[in-house]
Parts: sequence; structure tokens; C-alpha cells
Amino acid sequence: MKKKEKKYMDTVMSFEDKADLSVNVNNDSNQIICACANLKLSDFEKTLGRMKTQSFSALLRETSAGSTCTACLLDLEYFFVEAKSRNPKHFNSDDKTNNLKQLGVIPTKQHIYKILDSITPPIAWAPTNFIPIIKGDNIETWLTITNHDLLFRERKSAPITSSIEIRATDGSFLFKDKIKIDLGEELKLRLDTYLKLESQPLVVGAAYINTYAKFPAMRGTIRPQFEILAEAGACALHAQGDVGPGDTWFTIQNKPLDQRIFLILVNTFHKPQSAKISWPFELYNSSIKTKNVESLQISSRGTEIFEINCGDALTARLEDRPFSVKISTERSCRVYLLCGTPQLDRFSIDHR
Ligand code: FES
Repeated sequence: MKKKEKKYMDTVMSFEDKADLSVNVNNDSNQIICACANLKLSDFEKTLGRMKTQSFSALLRETSAGSTCTACLLDLEYFFVEAKSRNPKHFNSDDKTNNLKQLGVIPTKQHIYKILDSITPPIAWAPTNFIPIIKGDNIETWLTITNHDLLFRERKSAPITSSIEIRATDGSFLFKDKIKIDLGEELKLRLDTYLKLESQPLVVGAAYINTYAKFPAMRGTIRPQFEILAEAGACALHAQGDVGPGDTWFTIQNKPLDQRIFLILVNTFHKPQSAKISWPFELYNSSIKTKNVESLQISSRGTEIFEINCGDALTARLEDRPFSVKISTERSCRVYLLCGTPQLDRFSIDHR
């Protein structure tokens, strides 16, 4: 193990003492390939054989697989392609791609991919994920990355290296390191300790996470997750990539006695940008025309927090009807919605 990784020894844990989640499948047709739909490989293939139009999306519709937690989608695609290549006689005559293959004609796109693969071999890679970091009295933000190969014992994931950057509200660097996570290990890292609580009640920053696998393999569980722990409860979410420029929408309820609503905007662009936040956009016809419009300046790679405050007059008119908030950004950005209790002792967080 490299020197740098030694200091994280206490945060990288082995799965050995945990329940073994994998199923011994030995490539048999009884293996469950979508746990949510309780779907066996044999049933997946039988349904495929019966179908007139053998498209992947039609097969998902037919079997209800891949539509709940979606964790199995990549695997389902693999089984779909494999089943079709094993049973060419089942190829649908409308399936132009497969017909071309049978004729030995390789589409132009595949030619280009082949050339690219011959120059740079395929390496497992995931786009940057952006995690908001929230710091406050008795509030902690934790990052978790687990490297487990899910239900498929015979098709392994690869060791990964996660490069983690932590940036302050103004985008300045606070921490940077690369941490290796072997198969069966997990990383837990507390992120808020790098921020300073300069303004009350909440200070925000962001963690930028890039993950690289040592060799092409199954993706497994390596998507970064984060938790926000507070005195009265905890919440968790998987990390997100960035979007934009453009609009992000959230639908919320204004309940000032029960909750406070915040937007957290991570500017993933290398230059400052401004964001425009407008509300309320009503979901139902009403006489409320007033729109609040606020501008927010965000430093290059910085993170800002903004509280949606409707004020007494609008609160009285809105009652508890849901309404939408629009966040317009000039550049790439990731926006999270954070909902807290009035005392900020419990949170929930979501993304679009
Ligand atoms: S495992 Fe297939 S949708 Fe959840």
C-alpha cells in the first residue's frame, strides 16, 4: 500500500465481517438478474425469444426489469446482447444492426470506435461527481465509497482509485488526495472538518470525486454516496455529475413552521457564474402572479447556499399548495435541494 493511503487505513474497511450479499450463480440460468423484479436469466431469455420486436427497451417493458432501483441496467444490457448473439436465429428481421452484422457489414460508428479503442485501450472511468458539504453546529457530512461487486460472484469489479478534492465556498482548495479502494473494501471520510464555520448557521463547500478502475470490469457499487448527520436524524444520497447551462426545477411546499428549504449550488465551471432563482411557479391556476427573482454570484468552483423564503404575505396566499422553483445557471452546475427542520437538527436532500 502506498504511503499516502496509510492515513486512511482506519476509514477503509473490509467487507469480510459483513453479510455476504453475493449469490453463487455459476452462470446458471436460475440466477436472479434483476433483484427488484425477481427476474431469472432463464425467464429473461424466454421472454426475449417470444417477442416480435426484440429491442432492449421493449424487453424491459415486458419483464418490468430495470425500472425500480435501476442498479441492474448495465448487466441486463450485457445479458441482452449475449442472448441475442447466442441465438442469431431469434434475430428480429426489423433489427437492422443485427442484420448488418449477419451480413458482415460493420456500421461506420463501430469502425470509429474500433479505431479509437486501438489507440487508447478501454479503461473503466466515471465522470466527476460533485458532493455538497454542509457544516453547522452538530452537523457532519460523510463520504462513503464501497467497492463491492453486487450479486454477481463470477464477474468481478476491479480495484479503484478515487481522487478527492475538497473546495471551500469560494472555490479555494482545502484538500486533495488519491485513495485506493480494493475490491471488498469501503472508504468512509468525514468531509465537513475541512470547512471553517465562519457564518451561521450553515457553511457549504463541495467535494469533487473522480474514480478510475484499474482495468475494465463490472461497475459494482463504486458510485460515491454521502450522508448528512445531525442531532435528530440523518439522510443520504448518491453523488451527481453536473448539468447545464440551463434550468433546474424543484417542486416544494412552503411550510415555514415545519421546514426550511435551501438550494445548494455547486459551480463546477472554472470561471465565476451567476445563477437566477425564481419562484413561485404554481402548478395550479391561481391569482398569484408575483415572482421572486434573486441573483446569486458563485465563485469559480465555488458553492453557495440560498434559502427560499416566501415571507408572510406570500405564505398566506400559497397556503400549503406545492409550487416550483426555477434555478437558471449560465454555466455547468449541480444544484441540490436541502430541506431542514426549523432547528436544523434533521435534513433531507435531493437532486434533479
Ligand atoms: S435490481 Fe433491477 S431494478 Fe433493481
